[in-house]
Amino acid sequence: MAERFLDKVYSARDGTSARKFYDKWSASYEAEVAENGYATPGRCAAALADRVADKTAPLLDFGCGTGLSGLALKRVGFETIDGVDLSAEMLAQARQKGIYRSLTHIEAGAPLPHSPGEYQAISAIGVIGAGAAPASIFHLLMKGLGAGGKMVFSFNDHALHDPIYEAALCEWLDCGAARLLFREHGPHLPGIDLKATVYLVEKL
Ligand SMILES: C[S@@+](CC[C@H](N)C(=O)[O-])C[C@H]1O[C@@H](n2cnc3c(N)ncnc32)[C@H](O)[C@@H]1O
Repeated sequence: MAERFLDKVYSARDGTSARKFYDKWSASYEAEVAENGYATPGRCAAALADRVADKTAPLLDFGCGTGLSGLALKRVGFETIDGVDLSAEMLAQARQKGIYRSLTHIEAGAPLPHSPGEYQAISAIGVIGAGAAPASIFHLLMKGLGAGGKMVFSFNDHALHDPIYEAALCEWLDCGAARLLFREHGPHLPGIDLKATVYLVEKL
């Protein structure tokens, strides 16, 4: 039987072990999440598509993985998607889909490989939370977004139980540096009875 990963993904790990974990999972990732009804890419893509008029403008899919998030974004009309991820093996799977304008391998926590404002839309779908990217990534992405730009992201129930993740969002909302356009708790991986909140914020 193929090795299962969902039962161990939500444990705390640093960038190096996250990269190794996702490299190992890359070949069976899509089958395992599909089997469990992975719903968050479609939910995030729909929320962003409803509020971004220009679907031709470049969009950064941060933590693009094998490209399931890019696929969902493409389906709702986004045409120019750049993906970044720390796992070379996940990126190799994304490359095979032929849907990204560019795919870039990044180090955990490294500065973003673009200048602030280059993207008016960023997605971080299933990326920030225990077992993957830390809360500090939220600040990195918000700083990399242009004024008036929008970011869609999700926190699953594990991330929602740890106040550090929503606190990162509140830091931006409470001082008026961003405003919340959409927030909805709903299915993430129904097969393991896990939900996620999808958020859409606008940087002011
Ligand atoms: C659960 S997968 C989600 C992938 C894709 N967005 C999707 O919806 O299928 C999480 C992804 O985040 C990437 N990741 C984790 N920590 C990261 C970090 N610090 N910087 C960039 N990517 C990271 C992992 O390599 C993995 O591909």
